[in-house]
Amino acid sequence: MPYDAHAQRYDHLSYRRCGTSGLSLPPISLGLWQNFSDADPVERMRAMLRTAFDHGINHFDLANNYGPPPGSAECNFGKLLREDLAPYRDELIISTKAGYRMWPGPYGDGGSRKYLLASLEQSLQRMGLEYVDIFYHHRPDPDTPLEETMGALAHAVRSGKALYVGISNYPPDLSHQAADLLADMGAPCLIHQPRYNMLHRNIEEELLPALDKYGIGCIVFSPLAQGQLSDRYLAGIPDDSRAGRGGGLAKQLTEQRRACLQQLNAIAQERGQSLAAMSLTWILRHHAITSALIGASAPQQIRDALTGATAAPLSGEELQRIDGVLTKYG
Ligand SMILES: NC(=O)c1ccc[n+]([C@@H]2O[C@H](COP(=O)([O-])OP(=O)(O)OC[C@H]3O[C@@H](n4cnc5c(N)ncnc54)[C@H](OP(=O)(O)O)[C@@H]3O)[C@@H](O)[C@H]2O)c1
Repeated sequence: MPYDAHAQRYDHLSYRRCGTSGLSLPPISLGLWQNFSDADPVERMRAMLRTAFDHGINHFDLANNYGPPPGSAECNFGKLLREDLAPYRDELIISTKAGYRMWPGPYGDGGSRKYLLASLEQSLQRMGLEYVDIFYHHRPDPDTPLEETMGALAHAVRSGKALYVGISNYPPDLSHQAADLLADMGAPCLIHQPRYNMLHRNIEEELLPALDKYGIGCIVFSPLAQGQLSDRYLAGIPDDSRAGRGGGLAKQLTEQRRACLQQLNAIAQERGQSLAAMSLTWILRHHAITSALIGASAPQQIRDALTGATAAPLSGEELQRIDGVLTKYG
């Protein structure tokens, strides 16, 4: 059935200014790292994209290597964009990245101008786009001069193939240098994409205050610690969960971790929230965080996440109780 986006899609969320730029982002964005591969059912992908957009999530985050196979998430997104979302292109923020191994040989990985600009071209072709809204360098490359990598990002903006640029997984000192270079090149760093959640708080001390000071936005990935900060694993590891499907996540789900999650869940329940929703409310308490970049394997998870963005803020006492649990379980 042809898609007709919900008329009230912008009535639910308060959009947040991305640093000191002119761009606002939804408090919850949807990432396509997982569950958009060639092995995933296309109708489930479609349902998730429609649910997101119908509720005001207009930012979709991709990377050249998302799949498997690498590139397939961009192809699948491109297909659903053509079929459903294309009439709304000017309402969408679509991001992609390059920085991990993508093709064989010396030019398919890293941070060279050769790799970044070829990869961006390939991403545009896979998605059927003339431009992306945000193009990121996915991770620092110590073997390439930072000037070259930032020069490639600035070129992407000048050529019209990216409207804005960002960096991901860069430590604070390198972020500062990258932002200075980009500013000098006339393509200001719009946004940083680090990992942040209740179980990984290292950006709080240095990176987050620095981004705030430089006027750079911050979109945090894995805000639910890949699903740990939800009701998914409170009683075990379901077969259809990310941890149940293999990979390293199951190893993190020790008895101690589960006890921690159960105590956090009890606080969430007292607030009338799911643990996933409370985890997102907790993240969005920082004004320097522009958006929480979730993943999802079902439309219901997206609806649940949205309640975290619209819930009442956590009180000082609730924040202290959460800190107490996190400290106790280290
Ligand atoms: N820049 C980088 O280096 C980098 C790295 C990682 C990710 N990212 C970006 O960040 C995005 C999100 O990462 P992520 O997928 O790790 O995020 P996440 O939100 O921490 O985890 C998503 C997973 O949590 C579970 N989940 C989500 N909502 C739930 C709910 N309401 N109730 C129960 N379970 C729920 C689902 O797992 P199940 O499958 O078990 O249902 C879902 O796939 C990626 O898609 C990507 O765009 C970027």
